[in-house]
Amino acid sequence: MLSVSICGTILVIGLVAAAASFWFAFEEARDLQDDELREIAWLVSPGDAKVLSSQGGFKQADEPGMRIWVLKVSKLATRLVTPDLTLTLPGELSDGLHTIDSHGESWRIYIRPMSAEYGLAVAQRTSARDEIARDSALRTLIPLLAVIPVLIILAGILIRILLRKVQQLSAEVDRRGDTDLAPLVAEGAPSEILPFVSSTNRLLGRLQSAISQQRQFVADAAHELRSPVTAMTLQLENAMTVEGTSDAVLARLAPLGKSISRMRSLVEQLLMLAEREAGPPTVSHDIDAKVVVIDVLGEIFPFADSKDIDLGLDVGESLTIQGGQEDFRALVRNAIDNAVLYTPPGGKVDVRLYREGNAAVFEVEDSGPGIPHEELPRVFDAFYRVVGSGQPGSGLGLTIVRSAAARLGGKVSLHTIASRGKTGLRFVYAQEVVDA
Ligand SMILES: Nc1ncnc2c1ncn2[C@@H]1O[C@H](COP(=O)(O)OP(=O)(O)OP(=O)(O)O)[C@@H](O)[C@H]1O
Ligand SMILES: [Mg+2]
Repeated sequence: MLSVSICGTILVIGLVAAAASFWFAFEEARDLQDDELREIAWLVSPGDAKVLSSQGGFKQADEPGMRIWVLKVSKLATRLVTPDLTLTLPGELSDGLHTIDSHGESWRIYIRPMSAEYGLAVAQRTSARDEIARDSALRTLIPLLAVIPVLIILAGILIRILLRKVQQLSAEVDRRGDTDLAPLVAEGAPSEILPFVSSTNRLLGRLQSAISQQRQFVADAAHELRSPVTAMTLQLENAMTVEGTSDAVLARLAPLGKSISRMRSLVEQLLMLAEREAGPPTVSHDIDAKVVVIDVLGEIFPFADSKDIDLGLDVGESLTIQGGQEDFRALVRNAIDNAVLYTPPGGKVDVRLYREGNAAVFEVEDSGPGIPHEELPRVFDAFYRVVGSGQPGSGLGLTIVRSAAARLGGKVSLHTIASRGKTGLRFVYAQEVVDA
């Protein structure tokens, strides 16, 4: 995650900077302490040094361990003894600074020559020096350590502000339907993410045009196929009505007739789907749902009658919905078509149109075999057919229904009925009513 890695980087850099700053401040403090030893040694005048007892003395400090000792040291001496302190030197020490070990303690010592016989030694325990240096180095860290959490909080807030627009855009994309490829609105987006929004919009544009081309191709192909299929139907009818055609030839032409009619229905369905998807957006106007349902039912009635299907109609008041009339007609036609087609002869199909709350509900319930639950989500896919339905079809009917419903702004659902020995399918379409 971006915020975690940025905050982690700030933390690591901050800690490294703190460590470096501590180290430099520590070394600096030690140099200052060396300077202090040197200064003390050089503040003692030769006269004072002469009178300084060999026992020496110390610079007053709060803690005895912190004391700085000023000692007169004979050139040949290896032990400096005072009532408070005994220092053993490793040998004759040259002038300048040294670090020595004496009686298990480490000492920093500065030797200043005073005469041929003696010099001046200014000494301090290194443990005390290190403690002072550490304390002063730690004090330099306080502002830096205080800044790190402030920086981390600020970085987190800035990243959240920067990414808020990205989150809004991704939520908008998630809310969209499958067919909505409209450009993303970049208004209010930080300039850093504008190039990304522009590239996404260019990609959506290219996708939209590729899909349109593909849909147009299908629409053109279906349209072009219509004339030869109609011609084939007519030629076949002519061939079958020629006088003197033997029964054997007629028997062979019959399956051809079935294939041509299947092909014609496929072309019609393809064209209907392509027109739904490739055509310009439908002009929305008021549709009297009752009139359309009765009209479509009238068209399908002869087919239902030929199958001895009891086709019932229950429409009450007129209900007005808004959208493209052809979309609603295609939806109603395919729903009733399916019910009559897949219900075995002698069955029952009930068509209802009623108002529920603010919605017009169009419902088709049949007494056919229904659709197995696991197949329900798939039957809306193009060319998907349930195996073993035993009826001819192209598998495009429900795809047309879904596409039409999306354009109309309604909701379609299928419910398999399987209770108390009853089977069937209930098709439900609901869309908001336009009140006059
Ligand atoms: N009322 C129904 N009862 C039982 N099965 C159905 C019903 N409606 C649809 N189906 C199943 O769903 C499948 C898909 O239906 P759809 O209408 O999309 O295609 P089709 O009827 O096979 O072909 P088309 O409608 O394009 O001529 C069908 O093949 C059928 O198996
Ligand atoms: Mg169908």
